[in-house]
Amino acid sequence: MSPEVVAHRGASTHRPEHTLAAYELALRQGADGLECDVRLTRDEHLVCVHDRTIDRTSGGTGVVGAMTLDELRRHDFGSWHGGEPAEVLTLDVLLGLAADHGKRLFVETKHPVRHGGRVERRLAEALGGHRVDVVMMSFSVFAVHRFKKLKPEVPTVLLYDRLWPTTKPHFVDYAGPGVHLLRRHPGRGEGAYVWTVDDPVDIALCRERGVRFLATNNPEETREHLADN
Ligand code: G3P
Ligand code: CA
Repeated sequence: MSPEVVAHRGASTHRPEHTLAAYELALRQGADGLECDVRLTRDEHLVCVHDRTIDRTSGGTGVVGAMTLDELRRHDFGSWHGGEPAEVLTLDVLLGLAADHGKRLFVETKHPVRHGGRVERRLAEALGGHRVDVVMMSFSVFAVHRFKKLKPEVPTVLLYDRLWPTTKPHFVDYAGPGVHLLRRHPGRGEGAYVWTVDDPVDIALCRERGVRFLATNNPEETREHLADN
């Protein structure tokens, strides 16, 4: 079976990552699911920003966790990538979009240890108001464990960057290796969530290995490659 195509930070090759425009394009391109990173603002809102600071992906500077949502809203997250001006995207808005389109949303919590579990608690609370399929993900085994205790019904991915263990803890539903690990470990990958896959050779490899979810910055091209093979 072909892997489900997950739009990594939206259709982030063609639109500024984590903007509504990036996710709307991903939906038009036929993505099966959407991926986002979340961070907590100073006033405890979850916003979709990858880095610790807003310096790379906005016209401003500053640490996300030191700013309030209102402060973040004063910055433009679209123009840096040649896009239309765009407000910081909140998780709440993205959950609404995924729900409206019946798409699965993969939510990665960033630097959860530093916040002592607040990110997972806020995520669990945020899910309460939406009817949407969510998968929680993290590189931190502690974060995944904490979240699973709060929301046992929500599937989880443990992300792997350097090592890919052969077994996973009982509270992890899917292994989440980077595509570099998939290349390095022949015969593995069945049922996994693999990131970030843009190269046609890697796309073919994911299909061969029975990967379940494939995260890509370019859903349209990825779907075309999957259809051709
Ligand atoms: O989908 C998982 C992948 O996004 C992890 O890496 O740095 O892009 O968040 P990163
Ligand atoms: Ca991510």
